[in-house]
Amino acid sequence: MRLLSLFTSQAAVNSALIATTLFVSSTSAQDRTTEQGEAQITDPNQECTPYYYQPVSAAIAANEFPPIWTVATIVSSDTNAQAKYQSIQSQIPNIPPKGTQPASLMGDFSNFTPTYPSSDPDCWWTFDQCTTPKLAGLPPDLAVVPEPDTLGYGFDDGPNCSHNVFYNFLSQNNQKATMFYIGSNVMDWPLEAQRALADGHEICVHTWSHRYMTALTNDEVFAEFYYTMESIKLVTGVTPTCWRPPFGDVDDRVRAIAHALGLRTIIWKYDSNDWRAGTGNVTSANVDQNYEDLITRAQNGTFATAGTIMLTHELNNFTMSEAVKFYAQLKAAFKYIVPMGVATNQTQPYVETTYSLPSFEQYISGTTTISSGVPLPTDGSSSSTGSGSSSGSSSSGTSSGSSSTGTASRASSDGLGMLAAGAAFVGFAMKLLA
Ligand SMILES: *[C@@H]1O[C@H](CO)[C@@H](O)[C@H](O)[C@H]1NC(C)=O
Ligand SMILES: *[C@@H]1O[C@H](CO)[C@@H](O)[C@H](O)[C@H]1NC(C)=O
Ligand SMILES: *[C@@H]1O[C@H](CO)[C@@H](O)[C@H](O)[C@H]1NC(C)=O
Ligand SMILES: *[C@@H]1O[C@H](CO)[C@@H](O)[C@H](O)[C@H]1NC(C)=O
Ligand SMILES: *[C@@H]1O[C@H](CO)[C@@H](O)[C@H](O)[C@H]1NC(C)=O
Ligand SMILES: [Zn+2]
Repeated sequence: MRLLSLFTSQAAVNSALIATTLFVSSTSAQDRTTEQGEAQITDPNQECTPYYYQPVSAAIAANEFPPIWTVATIVSSDTNAQAKYQSIQSQIPNIPPKGTQPASLMGDFSNFTPTYPSSDPDCWWTFDQCTTPKLAGLPPDLAVVPEPDTLGYGFDDGPNCSHNVFYNFLSQNNQKATMFYIGSNVMDWPLEAQRALADGHEICVHTWSHRYMTALTNDEVFAEFYYTMESIKLVTGVTPTCWRPPFGDVDDRVRAIAHALGLRTIIWKYDSNDWRAGTGNVTSANVDQNYEDLITRAQNGTFATAGTIMLTHELNNFTMSEAVKFYAQLKAAFKYIVPMGVATNQTQPYVETTYSLPSFEQYISGTTTISSGVPLPTDGSSSSTGSGSSSGSSSSGTSSGSSSTGTASRASSDGLGMLAAGAAFVGFAMKLLA
């Protein structure tokens, strides 16, 4: 069930769909303007054709974000980000960036590791898989889940433009997962990002440009988090409170900046190596073996006292196909497969308190989705992220904004959600006629 349908009458949806079909039929049979329309497309070539999405275009035009796929820096005109960055200075330990850019951005720390103390003073995961910070005041990373015989289920590197077949599969199985989204992908594929929330998945941050975070300067680390949170807020209406480091590359400096922004660090215990298949010496058979080993462990009692987490991706067709291929076996081997937030009872997984996840008990009793107070923004809407509400301190995240196109994109009540849907349709029609 699509989220928006919770907020609109079926009649309104139907008339919008009929009208949409009429307007679009001369050019294309697809609706690339709404989450619901986009979710219908399953041909990867069509899914991966870029489209226009007004809120993102407007935010880029207003210089609210750094360029995508480059190391994020604080935008010079962004006084909210600057103020937030200043406010967390005292929480950042004096640990220098590791290695030397640009090589270190790609994980080449060869000029640094020889001089790094073997005692691992910074709890640097890349060095020795450290997950218990040495800096006081930081919580341990989530590397396994506490519930026995439970798999904390999640996928990195999305939203992938061609994920509809995979998300359809998850929906058909009423399976929710944690989606670790890259900010640059969210800007490229906003309707696909909306689908995660609409389908009841949990969204966490996977940084802006997917670099080795310990190599970045403090302000770069901050910006990689901050603008990913802002991008997810812009297109889905919610601000995540969790993140996963690309390549697992995290130390106490990066953890401290994440913590100051309200982000819990989630890592993994096993790596499927799905992301590496076809590179170096990793074959698809190796990835199969990694899944099979996890299944064997689940069957032989390895997780009888605490569950686990395996690293898997929505990076490409292969990684998603592996997830589909092994789902039934995982389901049989584990007692429960749940998102990270469910495994840890994060019933309010976002800064905005209008959206709830089920607790672990609720989820395993069959309540896999709790009502949401966040209607999806739709094309034709205009909203600003300039309020800085993703800082982790604001609870005003569901502001409803009017714009020149007349769309209230983020209503905080059901009635306003209906208004938003109608206004969005008007905006959509206007765009086609323009
Ligand atoms: C690939 O090679 C690396 C280094 O030579 C080795 O550590 C690793 O185990 C190999 N992986 C596989 C799947 O064979
Ligand atoms: C369970 O299976 C794994 C993978 O084959 C193996 O490494 C581990 O030793 C086994 N544990 C037990 C308790 O049998
Ligand atoms: C997603 O997956 C497709 C198909 O495997 C791939 O071509 C594409 O580059 C991927 N990446 C993104 C960001 O969508
Ligand atoms: C992978 O690609 C094949 C061939 O295009 C397609 O049939 C299949 O649905 C895709 N799988 C996923 C999970 O997207
Ligand atoms: C989640 O809630 C259940 C039920 O109250 C409890 O047994 C479990 O310990 C909680 N888990 C965590 C990680 O807090
Ligand atoms: Zn990643």
